[in-house]
Amino acid sequence: MRAPELPPTASLRPDFIWGVSTSAFQIEGATKEDGRGRSIWDVYCQNGEVKNHDTGDVACDHYHRYREDVALMKRLGVQAYRFSVAWPRVLPQGQGSANEPGLAFYDRLIDELLASGIEPWLCLYHWDLPQALEDLGGWMNRESVAWFAHYAKLISTRFGDRVRRFATFNEPSIFSLFGHSLGKRDRSSEDNLHRTIHHVNLAHGAGVDVLREEVPGASIGCIHNCQPCWPSSGSEADAAAAARLDTYWNNAFPDPQCRGKYPSLIGPAIEPHIQPGDMARICRPVDWFGLNHYSPVYVKAQATSMLGFEFGEKPAGVPLTPIGWPINPDAFRETLRIVHERYGLPIYVLENGYGSFDKPDEAGAVIDAERIEFLRAYIAAMNAAARSGVDVRGYFIWSLLDNFEWESGYSNRFGLTYVDYLSLQRIPKSSFRWYADLIKTVRRR
Ligand code: FCB
Repeated sequence: MRAPELPPTASLRPDFIWGVSTSAFQIEGATKEDGRGRSIWDVYCQNGEVKNHDTGDVACDHYHRYREDVALMKRLGVQAYRFSVAWPRVLPQGQGSANEPGLAFYDRLIDELLASGIEPWLCLYHWDLPQALEDLGGWMNRESVAWFAHYAKLISTRFGDRVRRFATFNEPSIFSLFGHSLGKRDRSSEDNLHRTIHHVNLAHGAGVDVLREEVPGASIGCIHNCQPCWPSSGSEADAAAAARLDTYWNNAFPDPQCRGKYPSLIGPAIEPHIQPGDMARICRPVDWFGLNHYSPVYVKAQATSMLGFEFGEKPAGVPLTPIGWPINPDAFRETLRIVHERYGLPIYVLENGYGSFDKPDEAGAVIDAERIEFLRAYIAAMNAAARSGVDVRGYFIWSLLDNFEWESGYSNRFGLTYVDYLSLQRIPKSSFRWYADLIKTVRRR
């Protein structure tokens, strides 16, 4: 078989970083071991909110198999690995005293990465809030800013001797919006959403300050999910709905964090929650913009929904991944340009990937030619963005492994490595070999 073609990469910087990403709840398992507390996702799973009643109890068993997983990364040749710490593993009650065995797990992981020549990129918050804090109102409680600062201090003092790259949050707009309005958990109010947005922004600022103080030379950012929001019809109402979703989805967090003010469309709604000095507390200098990108989102007006919009139909003929996400590499290129122009920070693409229902063939191999084609086109689009002046410095594929895909459970697979959830065997897919080949080829240049 002819080796699949590699994308053009000539416009990427010589020090460009190739990596892979995961998150704690999605891969670790061991949810009841070594003193870990419960997270909100343990509770969602227990309440049957996830497809097939899947839970994170075992997941990829990365907690016990991290060595094997780091060995996979070494085979891939990635320079960096982005992971998250499970807050309830290190602070079972969310605040108060730390759980030493939980911290020791991340010591082992970080040491293994460094011994393998892979730079750890540590994300503090990838959605698994300790349930004990949710019971106190979670992000709707302004105290959450102090809880997060306490947690950030624990992590930076413990790991700051070995970790230099830190992200405060993964996709604040997604967990805020989906937690309160879009999707299944539509059980909240506009006021709760606006409160949450502001507190998470304040927590980001507080986290940046703690990291700067505790880790000299730290390189800090926040990771945002940036997708174009397009109207699903030509109507004016749908165009207005798209502009509104775009503001919440793409600007509600990076605008105050990087430009010091809320976008005018939502500013007045957030105003009641803003105290004197807050905007300066949020807008702390960061070193880079973390960008997660998948596909354009289609939206339509819906007067009865909380924010006046809901997801719309995708226009006929739009190419889709097997899990139904539109494929559009030009939209990626355009998103990179918009983020570059609006925020002016170096960009690291910290997630991009292809969701499907891969299965091993009779010979036990997992051939995912469509994923390779997707990644090739998206990396080519990123190279084109770099050629036109976008300061993009790294690209991390979501994900190293198939894993727990939130409300879709284990059915949607994003990994370069197939995981057999019964035996927990890892099988590198053909995209794994392709990515390894790409990294080797580019780095030889
Ligand atoms: C992103 C999440 C990540 C994963 C991918 C598919 O929005 O950050 O955890 O679920 O989508």
